[in-house]
Amino acid sequence: MSQGEFLTAVAEEYASLDPLKVRIAAHQELSEFPDDVEAAVLDGAECSPEHDVVDVGCGTAGFLRARSVAGHRGRLVGIDTAPSAVEAARAVPGTEGLLGSATELPLPGGAFDLLYARHMLYHVDDPAKALAEFRRVLRPGGTAVTVVNHAEVVPHATGMVREEIARQGLDPGMRTVNGIHSDNLPPLLEAAFGNVRTTRYDNSLIFSEPGRLVEFSVALLSVCGLPPEAPERPAVVSALHDRIHAWFDGNRGPWRDPKGYTVSVSVRTDS
Ligand SMILES: C[S@@+](CC[C@H](N)C(=O)[O-])C[C@H]1O[C@@H](n2cnc3c(N)ncnc32)[C@H](O)[C@@H]1O
Repeated sequence: MSQGEFLTAVAEEYASLDPLKVRIAAHQELSEFPDDVEAAVLDGAECSPEHDVVDVGCGTAGFLRARSVAGHRGRLVGIDTAPSAVEAARAVPGTEGLLGSATELPLPGGAFDLLYARHMLYHVDDPAKALAEFRRVLRPGGTAVTVVNHAEVVPHATGMVREEIARQGLDPGMRTVNGIHSDNLPPLLEAAFGNVRTTRYDNSLIFSEPGRLVEFSVALLSVCGLPPEAPERPAVVSALHDRIHAWFDGNRGPWRDPKGYTVSVSVRTDS
């Protein structure tokens, strides 16, 4: 796939934030152990209310909203390539929303105390360039907190979705991810910052009834590169519905899908 096709697939995935919201809700509500990414990143590096903060790939802006509600007084900036996400950031009181890419941040150098890049580096066409940008916009002593998934997450649901896409004669490749994951990001951060501290979180999604799994699987279609307007989409959705209901009819236990991520913290140490 060319760089242009990759960026187009990522843009299509986030043209609407609705599938992302469905996936976030499933992780918050259906995880085997409590899954609180916000607490995990705040554990990684203290976010003082006075800090100037940028959230790269801010998505639904949920993290920025939580900071705003908590009474943040420093600068809060959300950056995203998706206009839907920029709009979400701008709707948060006291928050700037900027359209731009991690590989070319529309920000001056040395301007932030904290940079978050949560669940986004695996969508970036040039991750090393993004990390150089992260370092550039931080003040000396500033901290970058990055979150990426393990190499394989929810393999059973993803495998099922990809099989049904392939059954329609379409490419079932994961067209919006670049291969960055929990194991290969820390060396890149070490190369960019000269330091990295990584914490691993292992968990599973547990679906005890078919409805939530159907909803979650449909929200994975865009992850697998099937855009909402694809003519094959209704057939794939119908097949997923039938297959998931048949699975719950024939199996007693809940559907269990392993998942996990790492939180990595790197500090800009130079002056
Ligand atoms: C999986 S969502 C994560 C959203 C949010 N950080 C969270 O943890 O809920 C990935 C986000 O990164 C954005 N994104 C993808 N590529 C990007 C890039 N090169 N620069 C900035 N944002 C990007 C997407 O538009 C999307 O909003």
